[in-house]
Amino acid sequence: MKNLTLDTFNHLTQDSTVLADDEFGKKVLELTDHTIIKLFRVKRLISQAVIYSPARRFANNARKLQQLNIPTVNLIDLYKIKSIKRTAIHYQQLEGIMVREYLHSNPEDEVFLARLGEFLAQIHSKGVFFRSAHFGNIIYTPDKQFGLIDISDMTISRFSLGKYKRLRNMKHFFRIKEDINFVYNSTIIEDAYLAAYKGNTPSFSDKFLKLCTELKKKR
Ligand SMILES: Nc1ncnc2c1ncn2[C@@H]1O[C@H](COP(=O)(O)OP(=O)(O)O)[C@@H](O)[C@H]1O
Ligand SMILES: [Mg+2]
Repeated sequence: MKNLTLDTFNHLTQDSTVLADDEFGKKVLELTDHTIIKLFRVKRLISQAVIYSPARRFANNARKLQQLNIPTVNLIDLYKIKSIKRTAIHYQQLEGIMVREYLHSNPEDEVFLARLGEFLAQIHSKGVFFRSAHFGNIIYTPDKQFGLIDISDMTISRFSLGKYKRLRNMKHFFRIKEDINFVYNSTIIEDAYLAAYKGNTPSFSDKFLKLCTELKKKR
């Protein structure tokens, strides 16, 4: 992790566009060269806090996802900017658009929804439990693949996820009203997921479908 002075940081991010912010200020910046810097607040910049910082987790997860052939961002560097109590991750964008944006323009694309369900089953089979798995954090790439951004909060196990974790992850997936509105009247995602899941059983199918229906009703 590189130490950056505030001056260097300001220089690096000069004329950047803010892609996301929160009550603490700028959070995601697109630089003029189209690379992205994402900032994370750290309470203390002692080594422990930095080792377990979301920036570090982001970097580790990116590396693991690449090993698993799951498209994600390409890391450029990790920074620590002490004066503003931030760590940061600098990466190359994953080219494409958010699933949410795609569905805005193509709300009836059933093949797309089926492929999304299949993708979710695939990452679960690869051991990925993605806590930020909503439609804004999954990118649809120009070569028609799905990929993940916003990857600080995930666990990647060496084994295919068990049934309990699969169900739990659906609670993250069907969480945002805007997303659910696209899929409220269909179970295409769920059906495709279940068809792709090798460990599926009739009782799991039943639980899975019931849970998803309940989650969608909460919108
Ligand atoms: N790799 C990327 N490719 C394309 N857009 C990105 C990428 N990373 C971030 N963005 C854009 O920045 C926004 C915020 O990034 P994200 O990491 O999801 O932050 P947040 O924590 O605010 O959700 C995304 O919703 C997306 O519009
Ligand atoms: Mg996000």
